[in-house]
Amino acid sequence: MPTQAALAHVPGPPATPLIGHTLQIVRDAYGTQQEYMARYGSVYKVNMLGVWRVNLCGVDALEKVLLDKDKIFSSQGGWDALERIYPGGLLLQDFDHHRANRRIMQAAFRASAIRDYRIRMADTMHELLESWPDDKPFCFYHAIKDLTLRLGGAVFMGLPLDGPLAKKVNRAIEDEIKASVTAVRFPFPFTPMWRGVRGRKFLIETFRTLIPERRAQGGDDFFSQMCVAKDENGDGWNEDQILEQFNLLIMAAHDTTATALSVMIAALGEHPEWQERLAQEVADLGDGPLDEEALGKMTQTNLVFREALRLVPPVPFIPRKAIKDFHWKGYDIPAGTSVSLNPGVTMLSPEHFTNPTEFDPERFAPERVEDQSHRFAWSPFGGGAHKCLGMHFSTMQIKLFVATLLRARRIELTGPPPEWRRMPIPKPKGGLPVLLRRI
Ligand code: HEM
Repeated sequence: MPTQAALAHVPGPPATPLIGHTLQIVRDAYGTQQEYMARYGSVYKVNMLGVWRVNLCGVDALEKVLLDKDKIFSSQGGWDALERIYPGGLLLQDFDHHRANRRIMQAAFRASAIRDYRIRMADTMHELLESWPDDKPFCFYHAIKDLTLRLGGAVFMGLPLDGPLAKKVNRAIEDEIKASVTAVRFPFPFTPMWRGVRGRKFLIETFRTLIPERRAQGGDDFFSQMCVAKDENGDGWNEDQILEQFNLLIMAAHDTTATALSVMIAALGEHPEWQERLAQEVADLGDGPLDEEALGKMTQTNLVFREALRLVPPVPFIPRKAIKDFHWKGYDIPAGTSVSLNPGVTMLSPEHFTNPTEFDPERFAPERVEDQSHRFAWSPFGGGAHKCLGMHFSTMQIKLFVATLLRARRIELTGPPPEWRRMPIPKPKGGLPVLLRRI
């Protein structure tokens, strides 16, 4: 890890001993970054919990680091905070080793598998949404986290909804996720990391017992698909690899989806004209099944989804570690430096988007295509070797959710539009109180 001296030539604000800039950044990650960019430019250093990181801002940096033609940037090194809970997942792998495993994982994301997940998801989504109260305020963020976890039990693991095993599994997943963002990285007893390590042990042991049966029978859930997944040469995973990859997959899918749906719902509550537009789009589909053809027609919903991901991306910062020295925008950066990319702030840049803080889904319409000013202008799913594998799945899931909800109800916010906490996991301050009116 380079010392402050090795990065002395990189500009940055003076740091408080020990905690550096951690408090400012956690309190207001975007505001702090915008202020530092205005002061120091698109390359500057900050200190987070004692570690110096170099922020590489803007679309050029996203392109250089994510496409990584010279194999300089390690995702494993960047996401090292996840090492104790998710050591063998794709995000914690690099280069050829990562590519070989990603090829196998892709089998679980092929179009026919996504169709099967959709079929499995549609009824469960309907059942879960019907259990939400009518005409009575509740916290959307908490409800959606619960819904996505329970839905995940069915779609990701093939477990019966709300069975005793699904409940224990869901608790363990929550413990793992909390551990992955906790500041205390050692599993001292009764800390979030300790609970996360126990959660991991429980999940790995539980899913190991299910592998033989899933391998023999297959199944239309992610776990079963990963048990039989093979790349084009017929290579698949051993038990340990399946378990590690599956464990990370659940984490990658869970909070991202909950955040994206919260942003969508907040936007529809705040902009009733868009809610009506989407409701009309859903009504135009008729009462038939929400199949690929129907979801394919939800073009307005897609615009709102894209705008939601621009305004509040679930992954606003992408970390990497340089494993070789490199030169960028006039600075020599030594190997071992932690770097951070900023798709979140970049997507609010007036260089790429008109009135960037305004909710304006039509900026993505064919007449405007503001996202196409640069291949990384709109990058909520990252890019390059680690680009999100769940992009199509989550688009399908979000459309299914919106259609199922708006077929029966309308959303009202019961408070002011939420402010968003950006770190460590983006979420609405106050939990996003809403009321659903049955139509
Ligand atoms: C709106 C929802 C989502 C967003 C915004 C999102 C965003 C991202 C981003 C930015 C990355 C790249 C991180 C990096 O380069 O360091 C990523 C990776 C990943 N995502 Fe997603 N994600 C979403 C949903 C999902 C879902 C639903 C799944 C699974 C069903 C999923 C599975 C993955 C996996 C497996 C990776 C790692 C890929 C690799 O390392 O090769 N994501 N996601």
